[in-house]
Amino acid sequence: MALIELKNVIKTYTLGETTTVALDGINLEIEQGELVIIYGPSGAGKTTLLNLIGGLDIPTQGEVIAADIPVSTLSAQWLTVYRRKKVGVVFQFFNLISRLTALENVEYSLELVGVKEKYKGKDKVSFNSKVIKKKAKEYLEKVDLGDRMNHFPSQLSGGEQQRVSIARALAKEPEILLADEPTGNLDYNIGRKILELMEAMTGKALNRTVFIVTHNDAICPLGDRVIRLSDGQIIENYTQEYTPAKELYW
Ligand SMILES: Nc1ncnc2c1ncn2[C@@H]1O[C@H](COP(=O)(O)OP(=O)(O)OP(=O)(O)O)[C@@H](O)[C@H]1O
Ligand SMILES: [Mg+2]
Repeated sequence: MALIELKNVIKTYTLGETTTVALDGINLEIEQGELVIIYGPSGAGKTTLLNLIGGLDIPTQGEVIAADIPVSTLSAQWLTVYRRKKVGVVFQFFNLISRLTALENVEYSLELVGVKEKYKGKDKVSFNSKVIKKKAKEYLEKVDLGDRMNHFPSQLSGGEQQRVSIARALAKEPEILLADEPTGNLDYNIGRKILELMEAMTGKALNRTVFIVTHNDAICPLGDRVIRLSDGQIIENYTQEYTPAKELYW
């Protein structure tokens, strides 16, 4: 069975007298280990789609199933458990905790789920604070923020905040990684490095499933699958031989 399945998903938002149809009859099947690019213009429904897959919101109609979990019918309490245990999110607008430093932001998300380790050949989850700090530092270094770990979000540039948000999501090594415009505020070199990290998540060692939302068609070749959204509908959904991030130019 597919890792993620959406069946006839509709999402509408009503504000006063106006109803917006953000997603209009979405059907999708995504296999474990796929890197999926979601591409489309502003207002197409990209963030809404990620929110439904990540259990941050529930559909108005239809079903979302992920990792055998009926996400669209979970109670608020179980949705929180699902998000914590299965999903990592790079938000379009970062959502960092302002009173925590960069390092503490990453540590905090790991404190909720622990760090997966091999212990005597077996998988184990550790909640040891030293293990958590080590993992948080490792990922902040991977996004080139080794020298900014003790800064608060307000002391970081937009691109640096974005990278903290990326480190926070990647450090969990989540089964499902959702990244909303992860390279939006980054220059080419660091942007490409971030895409390489996301690509690595889908590699053999981890075999995670990754969704990257973008406006930029130059990033589409990175996907095993490309989904084009327009006005809440899928207008293209194709698989391809992907191009590694290190060969992308934009
Ligand atoms: N909470 C909300 N309340 C009302 N309307 C909403 C809400 N969230 C999204 N919408 C509307 O739903 C549609 C899809 O929004 P969405 O944020 O998914 O677009 P997007 O493709 O992510 O756009 P962008 O590229 O600008 O981030 C838009 O018309 C938007 O105005
Ligand atoms: Mg969006």
